[in-house]
Amino acid sequence: MTVTARFLRPVFVCLGAMIVAACGQSGPAPVETPVEAAAAEAPAPAPFEPTEADFKCIRDMHPVRGFFVDNLLGNLDGTIAAAESETGSVYPAGSVVQLVPGEVMVKREAGFNAATRDWEFFELDVTAAGATIRVRGADDVVNQFGGNCLACHEKAKPEFDLICEQTHGCDPIPLTPVMVKAIQNTDPRCPPVDNLPPEQLEALAMLQAFRDAASGN
Ligand code: HEC
Repeated sequence: MTVTARFLRPVFVCLGAMIVAACGQSGPAPVETPVEAAAAEAPAPAPFEPTEADFKCIRDMHPVRGFFVDNLLGNLDGTIAAAESETGSVYPAGSVVQLVPGEVMVKREAGFNAATRDWEFFELDVTAAGATIRVRGADDVVNQFGGNCLACHEKAKPEFDLICEQTHGCDPIPLTPVMVKAIQNTDPRCPPVDNLPPEQLEALAMLQAFRDAASGN
């Protein structure tokens, strides 16, 4: 919506109210004109539907501290400003936030889902060929450790708009920063990183052992 429209709307509404008041005194109930009806409507949020083609090599996104951001609606500056705000900020529509390749948060259009503050959660399967969406939405999306995304992320202090990092009040995840870095460096959709540092190789081995133990192998 343009700034002009935002200023004009109250003018239209007042004008409508004045006409209604004046007509009401002198005769039959006024018929609402199309102009008044349109002016009284809430601004329509621009809907958009993220698809798996929107999810690419995590390292091609913009890095902010330990995670990566993007914006599907061209407002990368707005997303970066929200992510870099030390006091917290509401992320603009179109924001994509990722810590690891298989888990994504996308800020949908205003009004998408009040319970998630308009975030949609995704679990992806990623291979060299790209991403496929395993689960998306709010209530049913769980991370690689079986934790519900929303149940954990909604514990973030309100000013941080469901973004956890390590200090915003969410329960921790069992990934050290080195593990996260190693996972980001081995996103199968990205060109391979040669010569991963030994601590990252060690972190990947630990994760594999953890997964094997969890799956009973
Ligand atoms: C048990 C709590 C918990 C669960 C469950 C969880 N997360 Fe997180 N998530 C965190 C924490 C804590 C961080 C910050 C980790 C760090 O920075 O080291 C995080 C980081 C993230 C980030 C980077 C931005 C941020 O909030 O710091 C994204 C994106 C994300 N998680 C998405 C998801 C998605 C999608 C799911 C479900 C598929 C999920 N998470 C499940 C706790 C959780």
